[in-house]
Amino acid sequence: MKLPSLSSVLRLSLGVAAASLLLLAGHANSSAAPATKPLTVGFVQTGAESKWRVANTDSLKSEAAKRGITLKFVDAQSKPENQISAVRNFITQHVDAIIIAPIVSTGWGPVLKEAKDANIPVLVEDRSIDADASLYKCFIGSDFIKEGHMAAEWLVKATGGKGRILELSGEPGSAAAEDRKKAFAEGIASSPELKIIDSQSGYFKRDQGKQVMEALLKKHGKDWDILYAHNDDMALGAIQAIQEAGLKPGKDVMVISIDGEKEAVQSIVDGKINCVVECNPGVGPVVFDALAKIIAGQTVPAKTYNVDHVFDSTNAAKEVSSRAY
Ligand code: AHR
Repeated sequence: MKLPSLSSVLRLSLGVAAASLLLLAGHANSSAAPATKPLTVGFVQTGAESKWRVANTDSLKSEAAKRGITLKFVDAQSKPENQISAVRNFITQHVDAIIIAPIVSTGWGPVLKEAKDANIPVLVEDRSIDADASLYKCFIGSDFIKEGHMAAEWLVKATGGKGRILELSGEPGSAAAEDRKKAFAEGIASSPELKIIDSQSGYFKRDQGKQVMEALLKKHGKDWDILYAHNDDMALGAIQAIQEAGLKPGKDVMVISIDGEKEAVQSIVDGKINCVVECNPGVGPVVFDALAKIIAGQTVPAKTYNVDHVFDSTNAAKEVSSRAY
């Protein structure tokens, strides 16, 4: 048998080495610029209880579409148990991330632990939750405590610290309702002649706001001065009931609410609402900016709050045309 010459062995080895280097270089190149896979994200929304909520959904959906993200959307229809099972389904589907707009603040621990064990980052938007901070990446939304304080501060100034208040509260157990209630009560505490004489839930819904207001009007007649509604939709429903009872909202009784919907700000211009505290639903861009950082392995602030404003007769006319929701 003829043995290969030393020079041909050397040539062959050099060829194999060069080919290996080329292969390695190829690998190095592909790891430096990995093909970016489009993200699939699960988003579980509370429902569609208010115009604010619809605007919040639109903000997240349109931002996801702009970024080429596939958004698996679930409307939980105001049922906390639907939210938990939606998150479980997202985990089973191995989505890249999960966004939650929680109905209530409690009960999230076990399912968030399941998401964490599956290495799926969770972002919470709109309403905060009572869960260990290590179980989700961040919260993005409005500061409901601040909103309650702003409403109370405006009212104390406008009334000189006197009046009987009817409160239309939001979804029981939600951070939005609990914080707005607590902070408003704190804000009026130093005005002993400003009293909440009744408080009932209208579940953040316009029709329920109207129904509950009708019941409150039957119970209290004209023996009250101020309506504090935890959102605009309930205030707008209540205004109808107040008018049907022969009272002039905004004049015979004061109306103060939260959200800043175009219709509510217009109602200030029309003299039917006295004050609206803003709560911005348009957090889609901030949520998906945070998600991009999380996917890139960067840390994001634990809490990011909107800067919200107060509208009344001094600025509503200027503001109304530019309201986006
Ligand atoms: O959590 C935010 C609240 O929920 C908004 O004030 C209300 O309109 C919505 O449904």
